Amino acid sequence: MATLADPQPDFAALPEMAAEVFTAPLARPAHVGADWLEPKQTDYTAEDHAVWDELFARQMEVLPGRACSAFMAGLDKLDLSRGGIPEFGTLSEELGALTGWSVVPVPMLIPDHVFFWHLANRRFPAGNFIRTRECLDYIEEPDVFHDVFGHVPMLTDPVYADYMQEYGRAGWKAMRYNRLKALGALYWYTVEFGLIEEAGQVRAYGAGILSGPTEAKFAVEATSPNRIMLNVDRVMRTDYVISDLQPTYFVIESFADLYRQTVERDFDRLYRSLPAGFTYANSAVIDVDNVLHRGTQEYHLRGGRGSGAKPV
Ligand SMILES: [Fe+2]
Repeated sequence: MATLADPQPDFAALPEMAAEVFTAPLARPAHVGADWLEPKQTDYTAEDHAVWDELFARQMEVLPGRACSAFMAGLDKLDLSRGGIPEFGTLSEELGALTGWSVVPVPMLIPDHVFFWHLANRRFPAGNFIRTRECLDYIEEPDVFHDVFGHVPMLTDPVYADYMQEYGRAGWKAMRYNRLKALGALYWYTVEFGLIEEAGQVRAYGAGILSGPTEAKFAVEATSPNRIMLNVDRVMRTDYVISDLQPTYFVIESFADLYRQTVERDFDRLYRSLPAGFTYANSAVIDVDNVLHRGTQEYHLRGGRGSGAKPV
């Protein structure tokens, strides 16, 4: 039986969870098994597909020139502009042929150890439902548009695809050390809100940026946020904002560099020296930072979301 304490797990099976390992309490719906996978994808209505098409068209107004080339190429490779919510079976066949990943439907946010297990096996868990027209801009939990439009095109890039698997493989160790927040910050500042240098400019590769209308412009062009070259140790000590635009974005020079920084870091040593909480505020600029742009933080100083402050 696999256990979370195994120092070199093969990720073939879900581990037994020791009582002392913290994981967020989530009530498993009766119709899903221990893997939390839906038996099948939702049967979407015509309105659901229309919402997808509207969101897709809106993003395509802002992403060219702001999204990284791997993302734009991924949209093409998977033919995501064909219209309507993609069928996960077809999508997985196409994605599988490119990088060996598949997309699997889940009902909601799933427990950390199960999420890591799917990633370690090159399965991307995607929200099954789609938001309604009444809340196009902000949703509490990731839906199929965020997960499939935002994340899946990046999984067509072979190096990024390997990074995501390595991230999943790193998860159980973080749980053993009770340092999930630190590893979560790495996910946040890369997979969700990452920027990359391309041809002398910064472009977005994070799904949280790519799946919303405001943050693509803010992250790439606005004067408010800091843009700092990514250092894995520094990022894993840095707090972040959940329900507003980010005060700081971290920039990678390439996916190969992100992969190398993550795989070469000895996380056992890092977790032993890492305090339980975050050391740096989400807007901090520190001595060792390689700063591309020092933000004015005007947007957050004026009150951020809900204040009417412009995302400048
Ligand atoms: Fe996401």
